[in-house]
Amino acid sequence: MRDFCFVLFGATGDLAMRKIFPAIYEAYKKGLLCEKARFIATSRSAFDNETFLQELEAKAKIHNCNEKQWKEFTKKIHYLCIDLNQMQDFQALKEFLGDENEDLIIYFSISPEFFIKACENLASVSLNGSKVRIVLEKPLGVDLKSCQEINNQIAKHFKEEQIYRIDHYLGKQSVQNILFLRAYNLLFSSVWDKEHIDFVEISVFETLGVEARGEFYDNMGALRDMLQNHILQILSLVAMKIPQNLDANSIREAKLKLLQSLKPLDKKALQTQVIKAQYTAAKGCKGYLEESNIKAQSQTETFVAIKAEILDTNWLGVPFYLRTGKRMAHSFAHIVLHFKSKPNIKANKLIISLQPKNELCIKVQVKEALTSTQTQEQALVLNLDNQASMQPYESLILDAIKANASSFNHKEELEAAWQWLDPLLQTWHTSKLCYYPALSFGPKEAFELIENDGFGWYNGCFEL
Ligand code: BG6
Repeated sequence: MRDFCFVLFGATGDLAMRKIFPAIYEAYKKGLLCEKARFIATSRSAFDNETFLQELEAKAKIHNCNEKQWKEFTKKIHYLCIDLNQMQDFQALKEFLGDENEDLIIYFSISPEFFIKACENLASVSLNGSKVRIVLEKPLGVDLKSCQEINNQIAKHFKEEQIYRIDHYLGKQSVQNILFLRAYNLLFSSVWDKEHIDFVEISVFETLGVEARGEFYDNMGALRDMLQNHILQILSLVAMKIPQNLDANSIREAKLKLLQSLKPLDKKALQTQVIKAQYTAAKGCKGYLEESNIKAQSQTETFVAIKAEILDTNWLGVPFYLRTGKRMAHSFAHIVLHFKSKPNIKANKLIISLQPKNELCIKVQVKEALTSTQTQEQALVLNLDNQASMQPYESLILDAIKANASSFNHKEELEAAWQWLDPLLQTWHTSKLCYYPALSFGPKEAFELIENDGFGWYNGCFEL
C-alpha cells in the first residue's frame, strides 16, 4: 500500500460517525493501513482539533474499542474547518497537505448539491492530479438529468478513473459473492437462465423508520434511496452475463449492459408493475406523516415494489420482482431464485441472504422419513459469516485507498439505472400512493403484483 492521506468532507455528519470512522479505525486496528497514513476531517463547524476529537469520541459508533489503540489512531486525525463554497478554505487544505509524496483520497460524505463546487475548488488549488481519487457517496442526483449534470461537471476536473462512486451494498460480502457463485460453480451457472428459472425476487426490508433523516428522506423516498442504487446493483450482478475476464472493467461493462437491457417501463407497465406505498401508524409506531421533518400530506413513498423484465435472450419471460421498504415487520435482505417445477417435481429455491444472516440456502426435496413415497422440502444451508470478513465500508474504503475500482460504480451504470426509472419519475409525485401499517409486510397491492402472475413473495422464516 502506498502512503496516503484521507480527507473526509462531512466529518461531523451521521454517516461519518456511524460508518466511516468506525470502518477506518477497524482497518487501523487490524494493521491494514500503512504507517504514515494520515486523516484530515473537515466540516463547516468551527471546531479545533480537540473539540472535534471529543465529538468523535462521543458520537462514533466504535465496537470493541481498544483504548490505547484508539488514542494512537486519533493522533493521526487532524481537523480542518472547510466551507465547501470558499476557495480560501481549499487553499488552507492544500497548504496543510504540503508536498508529501502520497496518494490523496478525498471522501465526499456530503449532500450531492455540493459535489460540483467542491470539485471545482479542489481543481483550482490543483488537488486533482493523478494521485488524487475522490469517493462520492450516493445519491448521485435525483434523476437522469441531475446525475448527468453532476457526472459531466465533475468530469471537467477529474478523470473517470479517479472517481469512485460508492454503493455500500457492493461492499457486502454476500453481494460480492454472487459473482463467485455464478462464475466458479457449474452447478449454478448451468441453470442460471430462463430455461430453468421461473422468477426472481430481490427484497430489502428494514424495521427502522426514517429516524433523524426526515428532511432528507422526504425529498428522496424508497425508489431513489434504495431501489435506484442498491437493488438495481444487486439485480445487475444476478442477471448480467459473466464476462470471460473478471477484471474491474469487464464486470462494470457486463453490469452496464444488463442495466441497459431492462425493458423500458411503458404507460401500461407504470400502472400495473409498480407499487408505491407509505406506512401508517400501527403497533405503537408513528405513521410516516407524524415523523419529524416530514411535509404535511407528503406523498413520499417508504415502500416500493416493481416487476422488472430483461430484454436479453437469457432472461426473456422471467420476471424480476424488486421490493424495499421501511418500518417493515422484520429486517431482512435476500435474493431468491425460484427454479421451475415440472409435473410431480416441486420447484427448488436458491436463497442468497444478505441480512440478517450472510447465508446461502438451497431448498431441496428429500425423502420424508416416515413414508416410502412422499417427499419433503429441506434446506441445505451454508453460513458465509466469517470472522475475517469486513463490514462494507471498511472493505470499500480500503479498496479506494488501494485504487481498486472493481466494487464502485462507473458513471454509465448510474445513468443507465436512472434512465430506466426516468419514465416513472416523470409522474412519480402524482402517481397512486398505497398504504401499509407500520411493522407489516407491505401493502396488499404489492402482494397482488406478484400473486396476479401466479407467484408469491418469499418471506423466509419470518411469519406473515
Ligand atoms: C442507505 C439508505 O443507503 O442504506 C438508508 O440511505 C438505508 O435509508 C441503508 O437504511 C440500509 O443499509 P443496510 O446496510 O443497513 O442495509
